Amino acid sequence: MQGLIVRDLWFKYPGSRKFVLCGLDMKVTSGEVVLVLGRNGSGKSTLLKILAGVLEPSRGEVLIDQVRASKVAGKLTGMALQDPMHQFSFTTVLEEVVVPLRIRSGGKGRKYALRLLRRLGLEGLAGRPPYTLSSGEARLLTIAAAVAGRPRLVLLDEPFTGVDPYQALIIAEIIRETALSGSMVVVTSLLAAREAVERLLNPSQRHKLEDGRLVGP
Ligand SMILES: Nc1ncnc2c1ncn2[C@@H]1O[C@H](COP(=O)(O)OP(=O)(O)OP(=O)(O)O)[C@@H](O)[C@H]1O
Ligand SMILES: [Mg+2]
Repeated sequence: MQGLIVRDLWFKYPGSRKFVLCGLDMKVTSGEVVLVLGRNGSGKSTLLKILAGVLEPSRGEVLIDQVRASKVAGKLTGMALQDPMHQFSFTTVLEEVVVPLRIRSGGKGRKYALRLLRRLGLEGLAGRPPYTLSSGEARLLTIAAAVAGRPRLVLLDEPFTGVDPYQALIIAEIIRETALSGSMVVVTSLLAAREAVERLLNPSQRHKLEDGRLVGP
């Protein structure tokens, strides 16, 4: 089956005895926006890193179009980390978007990247070092990097945290467009922000992560 398939996913960090994720199942298809809600420490970021192929499941499997997630990390998957400063690794804002774009599409992409930055009001910052951005600007940049080139799977870890209402609308619009173009999008949010985020996203699936399990909407 095409799409994202999570089957009986278990995960614990090396050296830890406690499982963070305990037998999760999930299916996502093209065009879906999926919201994963949870409290602090419930495992939202851990789950996204596994879907991104950055962490390997302890048990179970994660398939993207029938291929193991870790095999297609970066190529089919774009991720915005919860802490933008952990994400940046290049010398300019523009490169943060151009480099993942090249990896995904193989093309040049400079013009496309500049257009995307303009949409987000970041074009004037294209030559700046990413670490000089304000926290809201940095959040927008991670989202641009995650969606650039329309990867098959877009993973956004708390994309609405720390952004003002106007920026939140732009982010929601970009998420919708990305899904409409055929990507699968998984977004996490604190349970406390549930109402606002659901209103912005109108997700096709909602999951609540609690005690390592998905306990429904
Ligand atoms: N590298 C690590 N080693 C050991 N335990 C970890 C590690 N990273 C995270 N954890 C633990 O795993 C659990 C889940 O963490 P995670 O960051 O996935 O939660 P979260 O739902 O994203 O939380 P938040 O809402 O605060 O972002 C927490 O108890 C955390 O302390
Ligand atoms: Mg987190």
